[in-house]
Amino acid sequence: MHDDRSRELYDRALSVMPGGVNSAVRAAIEPYPFFVQKGDGGHVIDADGNRLVDWVMGLGPLLLGHDLPESVQAAVQRHASQGPMYGTPTEVEVDLAEFVVRHVPSVEKIRFVNSGTEATVSAVRLARGTTGRNKIVIMQGGYHGAQESTLVEGDAEHPAPSSAGIPQSFAEHTLPVPFNDEDAMRTVFDEHGDDIAGILVEPILANYGIVHPDEGYLECLREITTEHDALLMFDEVITGFRVGGLGCAQQHFGITPDITTFGKIIGGGFPVGAIGGRAELIEQFAPTGEVFQAGTFSGHPVTMAAGLETLTFAAENDVYDHVNTLGERLQSGLTDILEDQAPAYTVVGSDSMFKVIFTRDGPSSQALEDGQPCSNGCRQRADCPRYGTCPKNAGDVMDAETERWRRIFWGKMREQGVFLSQNQFESQFVSYSHTEEDVEETLEAYKHAL
Ligand SMILES: Cc1ncc(COP(=O)(O)O)c(C=O)c1O
Repeated sequence: MHDDRSRELYDRALSVMPGGVNSAVRAAIEPYPFFVQKGDGGHVIDADGNRLVDWVMGLGPLLLGHDLPESVQAAVQRHASQGPMYGTPTEVEVDLAEFVVRHVPSVEKIRFVNSGTEATVSAVRLARGTTGRNKIVIMQGGYHGAQESTLVEGDAEHPAPSSAGIPQSFAEHTLPVPFNDEDAMRTVFDEHGDDIAGILVEPILANYGIVHPDEGYLECLREITTEHDALLMFDEVITGFRVGGLGCAQQHFGITPDITTFGKIIGGGFPVGAIGGRAELIEQFAPTGEVFQAGTFSGHPVTMAAGLETLTFAAENDVYDHVNTLGERLQSGLTDILEDQAPAYTVVGSDSMFKVIFTRDGPSSQALEDGQPCSNGCRQRADCPRYGTCPKNAGDVMDAETERWRRIFWGKMREQGVFLSQNQFESQFVSYSHTEEDVEETLEAYKHAL
């Protein structure tokens, strides 16, 4: 596989951009990332003409893949050619807002912004502004974008900034706890309950290898926040319109959060974020409320049109059936391959997200009494024979063989024409453009690379 052109481009990029990239994770590929020339269905074609099956899909936004249906293309082109934006409202913003309110159970009103990060920044400000409290609870290892209130590591007793440039005095208002640990959550609320504005959590950790909530965990979060008059904020930047179809993960789990953040799919592949929730909460944003929030590009007509037409297409076609069926086939095919070749690893996934976690510790399923593998990936079921060894929080995923994944495995997949996400933690996504052949080709490549 030639990559001279990518090498040349990266050489130029290194001279003018930090690490040669505009988002840190893109530089994770060694010795240098490949540059993409264009997309084609479920594939990308790189700058050297190599064609790869693409399971990264822009890190999640491309539910329909690279071949946008005619209706999406036409709407994007129409809005771009009519003068891209105006600084005053347009009808398409109202249309997309109405669509989301109609489909997502907890959303009565919504504010659109330009990225998932902006959505979580605004959600946290809204939670603090409406409750008059300072502290936010997050999950250790969870990711909510490049923002001051959530780039915090450590534990609830010793929170510390996880990036330079964030004062310790900011980090002290963030309380990281382990995902799936009800006792830790109750302890934090016992100690700080009167000053906790809310919990910010992904309903499935989709940024840390894909970790499911234990049965009853999300219910417990709903109960504790209600008891303490704190807000439950679901970060559905990844899971929104991916897990649970148009009703999102909150409908899938039957839990109603107070606030939901969106990004990725809701903008149909263009820069987007959104904060939705109960009307009386969302109305606390300016101009109706006291919590300031604004943006030059917010509700950009091209983005709104792409989001609306993408979701409308998904509502009117077999999009979720297609992506979820292929997602299931990938998960079950990978489970079979691991059973033969790497029984200590774990297949994780939900709906159209999938990943193999290189967990090394604990018994393989062959060593367990009934010798049964986890069917269709790790579901965190207490009756599963491997329950004790599957990843239950970000720490477990951190303990996986991340270097082996990156150095030994990823390149071998690329050599075989398969593009997987850049590190062990980011999820992989099926799109409507993927085919059964793409799945079979990918499974074959896993067989050789594992
Ligand atoms: C769960 C979650 N929240 C927030 C963000 C931040 O979104 P963005 O990269 O659009 O700022 C991400 C990004 O991957 C995410 O996965």
